Amino acid sequence: MVAVIPKEIEHIAIMMDGNGRWAKKRGLPRSAGHFAGMQTMRKIIRDCHDLKLKYVTLYAFSSENWRRPPEEVEYILSLPMKFLDEATLNEFDRNNVRVKFIGDTTKFPKQLIESFFAIEERTKNNNGMVVNFAMNYGGRMEIVNAVKKIVSDNIAPESLTQEVIESYLYTEGQPMPDLIIRTSGEQRISNFLLWQCSSASLWFTKTLWPDFTKTLLLEAIEDCRISI
Ligand code: IPE
Ligand code: IPE
Ligand code: MG
Repeated sequence: MVAVIPKEIEHIAIMMDGNGRWAKKRGLPRSAGHFAGMQTMRKIIRDCHDLKLKYVTLYAFSSENWRRPPEEVEYILSLPMKFLDEATLNEFDRNNVRVKFIGDTTKFPKQLIESFFAIEERTKNNNGMVVNFAMNYGGRMEIVNAVKKIVSDNIAPESLTQEVIESYLYTEGQPMPDLIIRTSGEQRISNFLLWQCSSASLWFTKTLWPDFTKTLLLEAIEDCRISI
């Protein structure tokens, strides 16, 4: 039998699901679940850096999440600036972490758009791990937007390849995810990375996102290594 050398895992994407149920189980408002989820995200980003991953994509707000009650949407949208405070950005700089926002961020309040831009600019020369925060992200819309740009760039049909399409996606220049993790027991793709997920391993856990740990992350990576 030919030994298969496992391909190095460099890009992990995570669907951070279950914040609402975590809060409900504790008799807390959903906002408490989102806050706890943010703390878990902070720890997991550190773990991903320690594990020397090259790319981490975090599904933080989907294009479908606008359908939630306005007060919940407002609370979720207040979290990025709570999370990306000066101390965290300094830590990213020390760890050489670059931040990108993927999704249609033009739909957010002007101040938030400006903050996202400032953070991307501030970290753009960090050449270590890239963290993509998927905010108002929808995979179908990402593909529609790519097609629109391809048409407006007058790309000839005969020169249209998979690589060309990839170069018009938000993840342009990045490798496709090797592993997609979804917490909370749901086994759906929920419009996440529809193009990019084509050869990714999918890994599900019943653990709700705020309870997610490095041990589970390592388990997911190990299962993915075995399967590829
Ligand atoms: C994931 O947790 C966070 C976001 C979608 C922003 P949920 O809020 O979906 O939590 P559940 O699925 O209701 O438990
Ligand atoms: C997916 O979770 C989006 C995020 C994790 C941000 P949802 O809870 O919004 O997805 P559905 O509604 O269960 O498909
Ligand atoms: Mg959910």
